[in-house]
Amino acid sequence: MLTKAIPASGEALPVIGMGSWITFNVGDDAGLRAQRVDVLRAFFDAGGAVIDSSPMYGTSEEVIGHCLARIESSRPLFAATKVWTPLQMFGPGQMEDSRAYWGIERFDLMQVHNLLNWDGHLETLREDKAAGRIRYIGITTSHGRRHRELERIMLQEPLDAVQLTYNIVDREAERRLLPLAAERGLAVIANRPFRRKQLFTLLARHPLPGWAAEIDCTCWAQVFLKFIVSHPAVTCAIPATSRVDHMQENMGALYGRLPDAALRARMVRDVEDL
Ligand SMILES: NC(=O)c1ccc[n+]([C@@H]2O[C@H](COP(=O)([O-])OP(=O)(O)OC[C@H]3O[C@@H](n4cnc5c(N)ncnc54)[C@H](OP(=O)(O)O)[C@@H]3O)[C@@H](O)[C@H]2O)c1
Repeated sequence: MLTKAIPASGEALPVIGMGSWITFNVGDDAGLRAQRVDVLRAFFDAGGAVIDSSPMYGTSEEVIGHCLARIESSRPLFAATKVWTPLQMFGPGQMEDSRAYWGIERFDLMQVHNLLNWDGHLETLREDKAAGRIRYIGITTSHGRRHRELERIMLQEPLDAVQLTYNIVDREAERRLLPLAAERGLAVIANRPFRRKQLFTLLARHPLPGWAAEIDCTCWAQVFLKFIVSHPAVTCAIPATSRVDHMQENMGALYGRLPDAALRARMVRDVEDL
């Protein structure tokens, strides 16, 4: 199984995690909840650990808690969620609600969602970490938004992790943020690994290039994911899915060979040509 270490601690994480935006926002529907239990079980069965959510994702956190309660307790969960409220004073209550929804003792990683009131929430998170209520502190952005501001925060604040968008077509983070994360010893979680369905819409009709077999990929999903996690600064990618078969495909990227720098460059060229 492919793992990478969180630089701050050396703790190893499986390089493929799971996102939950939209896919786990299924409300009270018993049938859909039962399907998500199967998706999450497939995730753990394949060696997954990192689950990412947010209070912004509707009922996703409640549904994750529903699923976790129905899956054997030996799962090696690494629980990551976010604080997402304009006012610092509402942060602790929101995080406590999240903890109760998930049904866990504490979060491993708590992130400030989309930089919202980041200075206020980081103050709270530092206190929470010192008191042992959370293990790691992070901050998130996506879609290439506000990279300049994120860069400033990465330079000046003590963080353990950043979450940002990085995939084979959205590579802006390669210029400054990924090298900076490596320099500052920050874990990097890559969101939107498939640019929500778009990479499949653009590329899945093309046959897999010959080099896919060299990195043990049997489908485009694995090619997209292995491109991301083979970047030296990236710790894990968090694809989201509502389907067991897609989860199994995605978790295939947790095993086998990764591309080296030369093949990564070729992957970019070939994908741009398609
Ligand atoms: N600012 C932030 O903090 C922020 C912003 C964006 C995202 N995120 C996090 O990152 C996670 C991932 O990003 P995302 O959800 O936007 O998009 P994504 O993971 O790039 O794409 C999800 C989509 O891909 C499809 N999919 C998954 N596996 C597939 C496969 N093997 N074959 C074909 N289609 C597949 C899913 O459809 P099916 O359900 O049909 O499989 C779903 O529609 C989010 O869920 C969230 O946790 C964080």
